[in-house]
Amino acid sequence: MEKSILITGGAGFIGSHVVRLFVKKYPTYRIVNLDSLTYAGNLANLTDIESEPNYHFAKVDIQDAEAVEATFRQFQITDVIHLAAESHVDRSITDPLSFVKTNVVGTVNLLNAAKGYWQDFDKHLFYHISTDEVYGSLHDGGYFLETTPYDPQSPYSASKASSDHFVRAYANTYGLKTVISNCSNNYGPNQFPEKLIPLCIHNIKNNKPLPVYGKGENVRDWLFVVDHARAIDVIFHSGRFNDTFNIGGFNEWKNIDIVRLLCEILDRKLGRKIGTSEKLITFVKDRAGHDLRYAIDASKIQQELGWEPSLTFEVGIEQTVDWYLSNEDWLNGVTSGDYQKYYEQHYG
Ligand code: NAD
Ligand code: DAU
Repeated sequence: MEKSILITGGAGFIGSHVVRLFVKKYPTYRIVNLDSLTYAGNLANLTDIESEPNYHFAKVDIQDAEAVEATFRQFQITDVIHLAAESHVDRSITDPLSFVKTNVVGTVNLLNAAKGYWQDFDKHLFYHISTDEVYGSLHDGGYFLETTPYDPQSPYSASKASSDHFVRAYANTYGLKTVISNCSNNYGPNQFPEKLIPLCIHNIKNNKPLPVYGKGENVRDWLFVVDHARAIDVIFHSGRFNDTFNIGGFNEWKNIDIVRLLCEILDRKLGRKIGTSEKLITFVKDRAGHDLRYAIDASKIQQELGWEPSLTFEVGIEQTVDWYLSNEDWLNGVTSGDYQKYYEQHYG
């Protein structure tokens, strides 16, 4: 095999799209999906590629340093694309420590495993997938640049910022070759319905309230998940070391406008009178410390690496709604069991 790439968090939302892209596009690479299968990990996201000869799965928790090291040895790992994380801001507010354990300690375990296993650092890449939330909240216009100082505001973003710092520290101190990308909000198939878009699709379909935090004025910059996976492919193969790239869609939406758009699309697709689902909108208590606006300036990756989103939001959101409507089994599967408990605890 030309390369043996460890993709962590490959059973999750973004990770599954990255695994699929790499397994299909690079048959000469061995792709090892390392995932502990938390509530957010789901091997059903990968059924179409699980029998491919270059795909392997390792059920490992990145908090377990020995198991991570053993996986490097077992699969003779040459490169890492690290996505495994606790990813939901609301959960980080109720349980910050689990975010430290996975996002910070887990990342350091992976860095140590790479540092210990690799001989010639120039031949290997440790690529860390991060978020625009490390930059904090925009209040007065402008965009996040790669040079924007870190200012994380939630336990989630503090843990991601910390892991980014560790990745850079390993590059600076030990000479590991690393790259980091910081992406805006993703949407698309396979996203767990705790995040705004799949939660609303699920609730509209089932005539349940649509919980909008505060006044719904907060702004997010949305990117189709397959375009994030394409950007990761481009950055991984760019040959750039110890560099950072922002990834985003130049696609800002107020939350309330996204929720109204989803109501309109689903009314149309479900054959309901337009305006029916808007009645489900329910303004609820704001998220603690809720960041007002995120907006990425993605010029660097566009100009230096030639990446661009392949879809407009209008096309991507229609495809996304269609996917959730035609994958009822997937949605029923992930909303059974503990999901109901989480939902009731969080939304009452
Ligand atoms: P997700 O929650 O859907 O998936 C996370 C995956 O990591 C799951 O498969 C889970 O089982 C696995 N995982 C969690 N803890 C683990 C552990 N201790 N050991 C091994 N595996 C573990 O997350 P996502 O939305 O796909 O995000 C993936 C990455 O991208 C994260 O690092 C996140 O910070 C980053 N990111 C996400 C977004 C977004 O909009 N979702 C945007 C930018 C960056
Ligand atoms: O910006 C990148 C980040 O985007 C990623 O790093 C995170 O992993 C990912 O979860 C996402 O974080 P957000 O907090 O922006 O996503 P979420 O879907 O949870 O919320 C989007 C916006 O919608 C946010 O302003 C909060 C609001 N919201 C969310 C939920 C779940 C609501 O109004 N009601 C809700 O029920």
